[in-house]
Amino acid sequence: MSTIIQIKNISKVYGKTHVLKDVNLEIKKGEIIALLGPNGAGKTTLISIICGLVNKSAGSVIIDGFDNATNFRKAREKVGLVPQELHLAMFDKVVNTLHYSRGLFGKKRNEKHINELIEKLHLSDKKNQEIRSLSGGMKRRVLIAKALAHQPKILFLDEPTAGVDVELRKSTWNLVKQLRQSGVTIILTTHYIEEAESIADRIGIINKGKLILVDDKKTLMKRLGKKHIQINLANPIEEMPQKLKDLSLELSEDKINLYYHFKDKKEYQNIPLILQTIKDCGLNINELNTSKSSLEDIFVDIVNDEY
Ligand SMILES: Nc1ncnc2c1ncn2[C@@H]1O[C@H](COP(=O)(O)OP(=O)(O)OP(=O)(O)O)[C@@H](O)[C@H]1O
Ligand SMILES: [Mg+2]
Repeated sequence: MSTIIQIKNISKVYGKTHVLKDVNLEIKKGEIIALLGPNGAGKTTLISIICGLVNKSAGSVIIDGFDNATNFRKAREKVGLVPQELHLAMFDKVVNTLHYSRGLFGKKRNEKHINELIEKLHLSDKKNQEIRSLSGGMKRRVLIAKALAHQPKILFLDEPTAGVDVELRKSTWNLVKQLRQSGVTIILTTHYIEEAESIADRIGIINKGKLILVDDKKTLMKRLGKKHIQINLANPIEEMPQKLKDLSLELSEDKINLYYHFKDKKEYQNIPLILQTIKDCGLNINELNTSKSSLEDIFVDIVNDEY
């Protein structure tokens, strides 16, 4: 896949605070990349810098061949941005704000495209209403439609599903999938990590202004994911026998479950020995359950390690 955005050595300083520290990232044409990170990590700042809304302190951003500092207009028109904050002209009608937004990028008026967007975002019955009369979730749909009004090749979605109901979250992600199928490159942030896990091709993790990891989702899950086995005992135990401690088992607080975490084949091969040792200790097993770590578990591990 070719590169559509090249971010090199981006830093941002507010006063004495370094909010972005030497961020390097290549975004590939047609991919969905999710940027994850705790509150204040620098996600919105990075997106705002790429879209040219915030000045960088150092570094460069090339969008589809155009430098966003020396060729701002050309670079900006490639990009649609759904901002985290709801900034809208409250007295405008929905349909007018969309036409206006398209016009700002010098694109010809296109009733068909705008009407399609209105339909896709389930805004048909609100089309001629003033924006101030819409609910928060509906305003967010207008923001998404606005970002797409000029048919950009690249779409940034900064927390598009924060504070929206389940239905709208689902339809937003469906729209994102459709857009990707039509060739749009998508960069998104979300605190719903399981949603990022289901939709993204690549995951980037930002913490304290540093991009600490970028990887293909599948590779990341394989590399950092762990499997767990839960051994539910027939009766609670007072203390874990030393023999089981030596096999790296953990005892749950309610003293009825033993846990074993394993990563690779070698550790997996210990399971028969573990089960035999449990038996040898005179304990009876009620049930065995296995599970895999989710992207959320991996995220929490990585971010906590950094503290
Ligand atoms: N205009 C500004 N002036 C000073 N500091 C700022 C400004 N904008 C952002 N910051 C600081 O930069 C840091 C990164 O903020 P940013 O909004 O990029 O975080 P974020 O990762 O998007 O967080 P969230 O998940 O809460 O949206 C924060 O410490 C924030 O306080
Ligand atoms: Mg943010």
